[in-house]
Amino acid sequence: MSGDILSAASITRDLETRFVGQRVIYYPSLTSTMEVAKREAQQGAAEGTVIIADEQTTGKGRLERVWLSPRGNIALSVILHPSLAYLPSLITVASVAMVHSIEAATGLKSQIKWPNDVLINGRKVCGILIESDVQGNTVNYTIIGIGINVNLRLADFPEIQPIATSLSDELGRDVSRLSVIRCLLVELERLYLSLSAGESIYEEWRDRLVTLDKRVRVKSGETIYEGVAESVARDGSLLLRGLDGSLTKIVAGDVTLRD
Ligand code: BTN
Repeated sequence: MSGDILSAASITRDLETRFVGQRVIYYPSLTSTMEVAKREAQQGAAEGTVIIADEQTTGKGRLERVWLSPRGNIALSVILHPSLAYLPSLITVASVAMVHSIEAATGLKSQIKWPNDVLINGRKVCGILIESDVQGNTVNYTIIGIGINVNLRLADFPEIQPIATSLSDELGRDVSRLSVIRCLLVELERLYLSLSAGESIYEEWRDRLVTLDKRVRVKSGETIYEGVAESVARDGSLLLRGLDGSLTKIVAGDVTLRD
């Protein structure tokens, strides 16, 4: 991983954004960038502030899971102050930004598994966790947490090897984390700003989903649904055609592809 040393200055230098990534707080190691971002947001951090770590000791995944976050990967959280109306769209913003930046930085094509896992050749390369603090109609802050397997030899992590991949394993060489991070921050801001300009990235997100038209099993809370993933609504929810013909709208959950 020579030449792949991260610092706040190397990320922000001439970064072509208005606010995302204009302030970066870098840690060689910390518990979770989500925790530090939350503290920063509560203390009034500027929109677009990024918390980034080389390594997380207790990385957080969706649905209370642990997120493995060793050195060589990317673990970052971005603080945003969206209006309530845009909250559901942030899933689409983050996952489409991720797909664009992986392709721009490495040439690799990736897909999205509902709601916001990014896959390459069917294996997860990136996870996204979005947490918001909302009071009434006011969003105090939202934190988009992104973990990307970059320079990770999956052979060293047999517990996730069957379901995960990394950019370096896909390419057969190490990848510059800096270029992935900088592309990502530019794309995140561009797509986030496009929401308030009235543009929608729903169609692109939908078209990139590997989940649609597949037989799936969805775990949502304690409930398990089986059926065909028929479509997704503009608010990001999944419309599942059950084996009995019924249609269920699922707002959050975990999908396993059955085909
Ligand atoms: C998932 O379960 O797929 C979401 C994983 C999100 C991981 C990222 S890494 C940066 C940020 N800090 C965390 O502790 N989690 C998120």
